[in-house]
Amino acid sequence: MNILMVCLGNICRSPLAEGIMKAKLHERGLPWRVDSAGTGSWHIGELPDPRSVSVARKYGIDITDQRARQFTRHDYDVFDLIFAMDRQNYQDILSLAPNAQSRNKVYLILQAAHGQNNEVPDPYWDDQGFEQVYRMLDDACEQILLNIPPLAD
Ligand code: 4NP
Repeated sequence: MNILMVCLGNICRSPLAEGIMKAKLHERGLPWRVDSAGTGSWHIGELPDPRSVSVARKYGIDITDQRARQFTRHDYDVFDLIFAMDRQNYQDILSLAPNAQSRNKVYLILQAAHGQNNEVPDPYWDDQGFEQVYRMLDDACEQILLNIPPLAD
């Protein structure tokens, strides 16, 4: 199973989602691949935002091996499940899908986790938001691991 986490910049939310999901898979001994990408190109090659690095470190997860990259059509060939953080990311990813099979790989992450049509808020302009985003993503990743067999059908 190959899982891709997607946000706008690939420096705040999706690097956290990648780090959290990798840690949970490691705990469970599951050898699945996890990566993340942004729909935008502004931060390509950059480390995750220091505020994401800091909140992840607080919970024992190191995300400093990550570098931002941009989502491409090719990701549809590589990944089985693609989780978007917000509706704009979701729409932007879908607009690059070559066919229905690819479109069926894309989920809003909180929808996949809880069946809620909610977004992971963009914390970039809000120093206070990172803790909340971390907790949302930790909870969502936990739930997704419980849901994955039906998701992957
Ligand atoms: P992310 O947050 O999508 O969670 O990585 C953002 C990062 C950068 C920008 C916006 C959101 N930006 O406008 O540069």
